[in-house]
Amino acid sequence: MADLTGSPVSGRLNGKVAVVMGAGSSGPGWGNGKATAVLFARAGAKVLCADINPNAAEETAGIIQSEGGTALALACDVTKSQQVKAIADATMGEWGRIDLLHNNVGIAEMGGPIELSEEKWQRVMDINLNGAFLTCKHVLPIMLDQGSGAIVNVSSIAAIRWSGYPYASYYASKGALNQFTCGLAIQYARQGIRANVIMPGLMDTPLIRQQIVGQYENEEEMLRARHEKSPTGRMGDAWDVAHAALFLASDEAKYINGVCLPVDGGHHLKMA
Ligand SMILES: NC(=O)c1ccc[n+]([C@@H]2O[C@H](COP(=O)([O-])OP(=O)(O)OC[C@H]3O[C@@H](n4cnc5c(N)ncnc54)[C@H](O)[C@@H]3O)[C@@H](O)[C@H]2O)c1
Repeated sequence: MADLTGSPVSGRLNGKVAVVMGAGSSGPGWGNGKATAVLFARAGAKVLCADINPNAAEETAGIIQSEGGTALALACDVTKSQQVKAIADATMGEWGRIDLLHNNVGIAEMGGPIELSEEKWQRVMDINLNGAFLTCKHVLPIMLDQGSGAIVNVSSIAAIRWSGYPYASYYASKGALNQFTCGLAIQYARQGIRANVIMPGLMDTPLIRQQIVGQYENEEEMLRARHEKSPTGRMGDAWDVAHAALFLASDEAKYINGVCLPVDGGHHLKMA
C-alpha cells in the first residue's frame, strides 16, 4: 500500500487558520489528529494544536515548526467550555481568524449498558459528543462573522455499523456526532459554513494499542485480527484520515456539505 506520510500537498490551504482538537496522539507514532494537523500545515494552514496532553500537542506543533510551518500548541480539555473558549480566543489573538475546525478527539470504552458504569457512559458522551458541541459553540460565531468556515468532525463507521466490539457508548456518541454535524451543515449552509464527517474504519493508530488491545491475547494478535477484518487485508492509517480531512477542509470541497465519508477500505459494505 502507498505510504502517504510525506505526500506533497502544498498550497491547498494557503492563508487558512485551522484549529485541530486532539492534535496529539495517545502513544508513539501517528494518530489521526496528529497527521491531520501536520498535513494541514504542509498545505499552508497555520495550525492551533490543542490536546488534553500538553506534551502531545507540543510534539505535533514541533513537527510542523521543524518542517517550516506555523503552529501553536495549547493544552485543552475539550469537555471544559472555558478551556475550549480559550483556544478560540488564543487563535483569534494570534492569527485573527478561524477557517477550519477539526474535531478529532475521541475515546472508546468497552461494554454494553450492563457492564458500563454510568460514569464511563457519561465520560464517553462528554468527550466524543459534547466536546464537538463546545468547540462549535465557541468557533461558529467567529465563522459566522467571517461568512466562511469548514468543520470536519471525526466519527467512525461504528456510528453506523456494529464494529465487532461491545461499544454501546461509542456507537451512541459517534452516531449522534454524525447527525449533529448534518444539522450544522444545513443550519449554516447559507452563511458560508460547511460541516462534514469522516468515519474511519479499522485504522492502525496508537489508540488501538491503548484502548483495544485488551480484547485480544496480545498486541500481535490484535493487529493480525484487525488487518484480517479489513476488506483490503490491511488496516488504514492516520494519513488516510488526514488526506480525507484535507480534502473536506479545502475549497476543493466547496460544494460538499453534510457528508459522512467512510475512510475504511469499503468495510461499511461488508456483511460477512
Ligand atoms: N484508530 C481507529 O481505528 C479509529 C477508528 C475509527 C475512528 N477513530 C477516531 O479517530 C479519532 C482519533 O483517533 P486516534 O486513533 O488518532 O486516537 P489518539 O488517541 O491517538 O488521538 C486522540 C487525541 O485526543 C486527545 N484527547 C483525549 N481526550 C481529550 C480531551 N478530553 N480533550 C482534548 N484532547 C483529548 C488525546 O490526548 C490524543 O492525543 C477519534 O475520534 C477516534 O474515535 C479511530
